[in-house]
Order: sequence, then structure tokens, then C-alpha cells
Amino acid sequence: MITVEKITAEHIPQIYDIEKSSFSDPWSMEGFFSELDIPDRILLSATDEDMVCGYVIGSSDGITAWIDNIAVSDGFRRQGIGNMLLSAFCEKCADCESITLEVRESNIPAQELYKKYGFSAIGVRKNFYTDPRENAVVMSYQIRKE
Ligand SMILES: CC(C)(COP(=O)(O)OP(=O)(O)OC[C@H]1O[C@@H](n2cnc3c(N)ncnc32)[C@H](O)[C@@H]1OP(=O)(O)O)[C@@H](O)C(=O)NCCC(=O)NCCS
Repeated sequence: MITVEKITAEHIPQIYDIEKSSFSDPWSMEGFFSELDIPDRILLSATDEDMVCGYVIGSSDGITAWIDNIAVSDGFRRQGIGNMLLSAFCEKCADCESITLEVRESNIPAQELYKKYGFSAIGVRKNFYTDPRENAVVMSYQIRKE
């Protein structure tokens, strides 16, 4: 059974493997370890027993939350894990008004995941990404609808 829990140091080598196979511009292993020391980061992994199959990393200032990284292991995609990670992230920042993130313009699977969850595109950041250089679509999800 897949469960979502806080990322620990033991998860990071597996997270780094997923990261390398998911992105052309991956975070470093050290980058993931340093996340553990930053206060108020939201660090969640989806695990099946001891196997990490996905993760989401972000933060919240109490008003806005940001998702900085999310990925699901190739063999576990299209099984609802991305959606599960978004829901768990949302629970952690339920006091916020909205969640914002950037996604590569060409990354249609991720944009579809976010749209299905309820995010909508609110802008474009020109040349936001490198390796390769690409625009980012900025997407936002309204948690509290006043
Ligand atoms: C984007 C990603 C996290 C989605 O994870 P996932 O576990 O496969 O997503 P889910 O199974 O929860 O999918 C939920 C919905 O998202 C949409 N979706 C997900 N993958 C899709 C794809 N390849 N094509 C079209 N729609 C897709 C679908 O609407 C899907 O619902 P459905 O399966 O009932 O049709 C995964 O593809 C991934 O890790 N990609 C590489 C890393 C990445 O791009 N991260 C995002 C950076 S901004």
C-alpha cells in the first residue's frame, strides 16, 4: 500500500534516482540533503514499504505555498500517486490561500496533473529554465475561495 510520509535522510538516495531519471536539470543529492535542515519546508515522499515511488517538496509562508519539486518514479506513473502527493501537500498548507508553481511549457503530463487537480495558468516566466532554456508556465491553485 502506498502511503505519504515526511522525507527522511534514508529516502534521499532513492529520491535522487527518481530525480535524475525525471529531469534534464536535476537537483543534486546534496541539494536534497540540505532541504532537511531548512525550517518550514514541506517534504513528503510516497512510499510502498521501503521503496520511494514519488516525492513533493515546497514551502509555505502561511499565505502562499510553493511547490518547488514533484516527481513520481517512471514505473509508478498514472496510478494516482502524483495526485496523492498534491493532496498531502495541500493538507500541510491548508491555512494558505493558494499554492503556486512553475512548470516547463513542454511538460504536458505535469500541466495535465495540475489542471485536473484544479490549478490554472496565471502567467509565463520567459526563459525561466536552463538545460534546455525554456519558458515556465506559472500555475496557481486557490485553497481558500473567499
Ligand atoms: C507529472 C507527474 C508527477 C505525474 O505523476 P503521476 O503519478 O503519473 O500522476 P497521476 O497518476 O496522479 O495523474 C493524475 C492525472 O494527471 C494527468 N496526467 C498524468 N500524467 C499524464 C500524462 N502522461 N499525459 C496526460 N495526462 C497526464 C491525468 O489527468 C491523470 O489522471 P488519469 O490518469 O485519471 O487520466 C509524473 O509524470 C512525473 O513524475 N513526471 C516527471 C517529473 C515532472 O515532470 N514533474 C513536474 C515538474 S513541474
